[in-house]
Amino acid sequence: MPNNAESALIERDLAHLIHPLHHRATHTGGKVWVGGDGAFLVDANGDRYIDGLSGLWNNTAGNGRRELVEAGSKQLAEMAYASSYAGSSNLKAIELGEKLARITYPNINRFFFTSGGGESTDSNIKMARYYWKLKGKPDKTKVISRVWGYHGVTLAAMSATGIDAYWPMFEPRVPGFIHIPTPYPYFYEAPAGAASQGIAAANELEKAILAEGQDTIAMFLAEPVQGAGGVIVPQDDYFPRIREICDQYDVLLVSDEVITGFGRTGTMFGLEHWGVQPDLIQFAKAITSGYFPLGGIGVSDEIASVMDDSGKPFMHAYTYSAHPTGCAIACAMLDVIEAEDFPGQAAAKGKRLLDGLKDALGGHPNVGEIRGLGLMCAVEYVEDRSTKTVFDAARGIGPKINAETMARGMFSRVRGDVYCLAPPIVTTDETIDRIVEIVAESTVAVLG
Ligand SMILES: Cc1ncc(COP(=O)(O)O)c(C=O)c1O
Repeated sequence: MPNNAESALIERDLAHLIHPLHHRATHTGGKVWVGGDGAFLVDANGDRYIDGLSGLWNNTAGNGRRELVEAGSKQLAEMAYASSYAGSSNLKAIELGEKLARITYPNINRFFFTSGGGESTDSNIKMARYYWKLKGKPDKTKVISRVWGYHGVTLAAMSATGIDAYWPMFEPRVPGFIHIPTPYPYFYEAPAGAASQGIAAANELEKAILAEGQDTIAMFLAEPVQGAGGVIVPQDDYFPRIREICDQYDVLLVSDEVITGFGRTGTMFGLEHWGVQPDLIQFAKAITSGYFPLGGIGVSDEIASVMDDSGKPFMHAYTYSAHPTGCAIACAMLDVIEAEDFPGQAAAKGKRLLDGLKDALGGHPNVGEIRGLGLMCAVEYVEDRSTKTVFDAARGIGPKINAETMARGMFSRVRGDVYCLAPPIVTTDETIDRIVEIVAESTVAVLG
């Protein structure tokens, strides 16, 4: 369809708006979204697209969920806003805390709410530092995270984020942030004699703790599956070994569940796959399915009891912490997640998607790896499969694949030459099969 209605809107947009990750050149020819239903988005020309990334990994329930809309409108009508600073609360925040305590890891029962993922990263960094100061270890302030980790882009979150494209124009980063290699099963090379690739990758954490000094490290921050970094699923023995190292060196394990939380990977939270409990979690996105900006952190019973005994307030705050409307929508969303078994649906549909992609593209000479867990997966394109040689970035293979998928009615994102997929958990099997066809046809269109 001609792009007239949309390009006129983009011209008006460009006159006044600066977007996330913006440059004029990357925005011309952009999309203006005006509607959506289920797993589909509709643009200003009236064309429908499969929402291949659930918005930004968040809209797991899809568009048009009446129960979420009604929960939000009811709360707005009853009370638009009230502070949640100490001394105040609201009904939906209390209910949300109770629901989260029931579904998160057994040792996580106390929550602080934010407006999104980046604020949750900052909140956990401050929580970890606060905890160690209360424990009489004020020098434990440093944060270790991983290459290809994405934790948001506030100045502190950006410093934890391990994708270097986010740094150069905002340097200097906050001091005291260290990055270790990602376990990336496709590329990580374990040293000779290592027990396994996963153990070797986890031992990178031990190396960093020893190099920096254990008395300086507050926390290790990791996504159970690295999302924006290219859907990197760790080895099965990686996180159990990480837990051991954190215990051995008194380092808090912080699980960034902003994408993996609430069913996306086939379990309610990501580390459940490997039987590991973190000390702190952070969440956002799917807790409201994107119907309202809300995130938060959850702390272990041990951290909660140290806070309780300390007499020292957690001097950290957001105006919109525990926003009543966000909490009302989150409560309704958690009901949907449980009633419709989102973890089970993600596991089954994720398998259908991954198997479909492997059948269609597993033999393609430029497909290095097709990987995923639950309903998040990725196709990694390489120049030479036998040597894992990557394409010259100047060839723009990933963006070309993306353009072909757009031309066939699917909207998602690439990280370099990795095509990422995380459609809504409500996506029908028929649409999952169409996603497979689109990726397969687009691959052939670009690479033959
Ligand atoms: C794992 C993870 N953490 C944190 C964030 C940052 O969230 P926000 O964009 O809401 O600040 C994201 C965003 O994609 C994310 O994927």
